[in-house]
This record gives sequence, C-alpha cells and structure tokens, in this order.
Amino acid sequence: MLRRLFKFFAAKPHMEPIPQDLSSDRIPQHVAVIMDGNGRWAKSQGLPRIAGHHSGMKTIKRITKVADKLGVKVLTLYAFSTENWKRPKEEVEFLMKLPQEFLSLELEDLIENNIQVRIMGYKEDLPPHTFKAVEEAESRTSHCTGMILNFALNYGSRKEMIQAFREMAADVQDGTLQPDHISEEVYSQYLLTRALPDPDLLIRTSGEVRISNFMMWQLAYSELWFTDVYWPAFTEDHFYEAIRGYQQRARRFGGL
Ligand code: FPP
Repeated sequence: MLRRLFKFFAAKPHMEPIPQDLSSDRIPQHVAVIMDGNGRWAKSQGLPRIAGHHSGMKTIKRITKVADKLGVKVLTLYAFSTENWKRPKEEVEFLMKLPQEFLSLELEDLIENNIQVRIMGYKEDLPPHTFKAVEEAESRTSHCTGMILNFALNYGSRKEMIQAFREMAADVQDGTLQPDHISEEVYSQYLLTRALPDPDLLIRTSGEVRISNFMMWQLAYSELWFTDVYWPAFTEDHFYEAIRGYQQRARRFGGL
C-alpha cells in the first residue's frame, strides 16, 4: 500500500499542506523545468517582456520551496540557453542581472534551508557581475546537503555533447581512455551533469512542446509534462499537478 503524505509532512508551518493524494514514495528525485512563456505572459498583462522575466524569477522562489518541501533532490531550471544570446541586447542584459538579484534576495534563505546552488553551463562567457554572483552562491552553499538547485545558465545540450566528445578524444589521444571502454556510464562522466541523476520528470510551461536543446542525453527516459500555463503564472498547485501526472505514469525504461 502506498504511504501517503499528511499535513504534518509540511516541515514549515507557514506553508500550505501537501495534497494528500500525492504519494511520498514516488516523488521524482530530479525535476527539470523549461521555464517558458515569460514574454507572452508579460504581453497578456500589457507589460514589457522583461517584466515577464522578473515575474518568472518570483516563480523560481515558489517552485524551489515546494520542490524542497516535497523531497525532490535536484531541481534543474533552464534559465538561459546558449542560443538566448541572439535576443535583443537589452533583454540579454536584463536576464544577466536576474541571477544576481535573485541570489542577493534569496541566498541566505537557501543556505538556511540547506539548499545547494549549482550552475550548469558555460560560466566563463557570462558577464563578470553574473559570474561573480553565481560563483559566490556556489561556494557559499557548497556545504549544503539538501536539495540541489541547479541553474542551467548559458547551457546548451549540443555544446555540452561536443565538449564531451572533445574531452574524450583528447583522453583517447593521450592514452587515458580506450575507445572500447566508452560506455553510457563513461560518456555520462564527461557531461555537465556528471554527478547528478538523470531527470525523472521534465516540465515545460507555456504550451510549447519541444526540448529546445535541453539535456537531450539525460532526458532519454524522463517523463515529459507539458502545460499551457506561462511560467510567471505557474503555481505550487500546477507543480503538484505535474507530480500527480508523473505518479500516474508507468515507467518501463524500455522493458515490460
Ligand atoms: C523563456 O521565456 C524564458 C527565458 C529565456 C528566461 C527564463 C528566466 C527566468 C525565468 C528568470 C531567471 C532567473 C534566475 C534567477 C536565473 P520567453 O522569454 O521565451 O517567453 P516567450 O516564449 O513567451 O517569449
């Protein structure tokens, strides 16, 4: 019989209780999210696009809290792709200020909640102020042993794979890797997710139904959850709905 989550499971009394129909023994370990629809949400409110990104930052806080409360081990959020540099300069500049703003507001709280911040992506290409903020967050939370809040920042799956191939080729060339020793496990160790489990659940908001160069290797057996809700409007209840959907899926990993 499935164990149920009861009201007292909510460690933080000020938070809403977890829905009782969610099963505590089938919480996805790793949830990855493509946070989409900020621009369309802003438009729907008669606001500029950047207001959508700013509001999306508030959703990050909400969803981090609820994921942590549920017992998710890793929450990966696609915050900026290697392709997003093509956006207008002002929008890119705004997006690059958000990690700094978010961390200056939330870092203490994250530490208090034992949440470890990690950045998955090519940090060296970030503007210095963004780089400094994320490095500080990583180092100040490195001792935290609770949920990992993994920001995909300047991340692209194809770039990640190409880098992995290059590193593997270099290791083959210098004799530290035998070509016939290359396996799924070995290859995974060359990816930016080397220390993380693959996502169990991918959520994409905004009604778009595509992967957009996000964790293409790691998502091979993930359950996919698409919702029409724009990211700034995505609430705890929408998150529960996705978890509920996940719990109803039969995961077979290619077996029967
Ligand atoms: C996609 O929506 C969203 C992004 C490219 C940026 C996501 C960033 C955040 C939610 C905030 C990041 C904050 C931190 C702390 C890292 P879109 O702009 O493509 O929306 P649209 O498809 O409706 O135009």
